[in-house]
Amino acid sequence: MKNILVIGCAGQIGTELTLELRRIYGNDNVVATDLKDAPEVIKAHGHFETLDILDREKMRSLVQKYNIDGIVNLAAILSAVGEEHPMLAWNVNMNGLINVLEVAKEEKVETVLTPSSIAAFGPETPAYNTPQETILKPKTMYGITKVAGELLGDYYVQKYNMDIRGLRYPGIISHEALPGGGTTDYAVAIFYDAIKYGKYTSFVKADTMLPMMYMPDCLNATIQLFQADKKVLKHHSDFNLAAISFTVEELADAIKKHIPEFEIDYKPDYRQQIADTWPKTIDDSAAREEWGWKHEFDLDMMVEDMLKHIKIKFDKGLF
Ligand code: NAD
Ligand code: SER
Repeated sequence: MKNILVIGCAGQIGTELTLELRRIYGNDNVVATDLKDAPEVIKAHGHFETLDILDREKMRSLVQKYNIDGIVNLAAILSAVGEEHPMLAWNVNMNGLINVLEVAKEEKVETVLTPSSIAAFGPETPAYNTPQETILKPKTMYGITKVAGELLGDYYVQKYNMDIRGLRYPGIISHEALPGGGTTDYAVAIFYDAIKYGKYTSFVKADTMLPMMYMPDCLNATIQLFQADKKVLKHHSDFNLAAISFTVEELADAIKKHIPEFEIDYKPDYRQQIADTWPKTIDDSAAREEWGWKHEFDLDMMVEDMLKHIKIKFDKGLF
């Protein structure tokens, strides 16, 4: 891989993945793009270009300008915002992906990585140890676009012999950039409120359990799949991926080990219905067998590290 185009670099995952890719491939070889402005740390140490994923010709011109041979597509409308704006979610997630796939095909881009999500699953999917091959009947527009995106990715693999890769991320927990409007955002917001106010009101119930992952594991998984030898991959656009699963109550208890006075209450909103359609634990043995995936962070390790970093931000007056 010589030159990588990151689309959606300014989001929760893009902010950190762009820097990690630059560390591995070199600052000049990772071109960061987003519809919105990017954090200074991304703009200061490499190329940044404004790009709407719906603008296919600009995407093509950037691929040509920078001699791009790898694309990481992170631009998306997530589940909660997607339920408020379903047509926007369809347009960005589907027409945006089609632009990526068509430009990659026509410009002979070697590898495309475009993530899916646990949102690809639905209420008829087995909720525990969700298998790799299973029922995919999501109830959100976001989930529908993720299933269609997986099928599209595999279609381009089979029909055009392209190299399209994707993983079904669980909810991602991180402390650099805030999450962009998903159902799993409570698992990040709880840390900010615990540090700032000593209490948090959860928008999902205490016993809501969802698959989650700490950002360092997310970065490792993404880069491991991106770099995996194509010959070892039996799956392509739809790898199940897992690390930790816990209820909100268990997360609050883990925070209380560090902040004993921390309090939590519960006011479920429309995001509860979304969470109720997603699995609780995931079988990711295909990822483990095909490209050696292994997570590092358990619940207590993640909580300790999150609190440490968010306390530093608070002490600096950043929120
Ligand atoms: P995010 O919402 O934080 O970031 C998405 C980025 O896309 C934003 O910077 C936004 O400005 C950009 N964007 C939106 N519309 C655009 C457009 N028209 N053109 C160009 N850029 C546009 O999302 P994220 O959490 O970083 O997610 C990245 C990918 O990972 C997405 O495909 C998402 O579905 C997937 N994913 C994320 C999670 C999670 O918990 N964060 C879980 C599962 C899957
Ligand atoms: N974190 C994402 C969301 O909640 C899952 O894809 O939308």
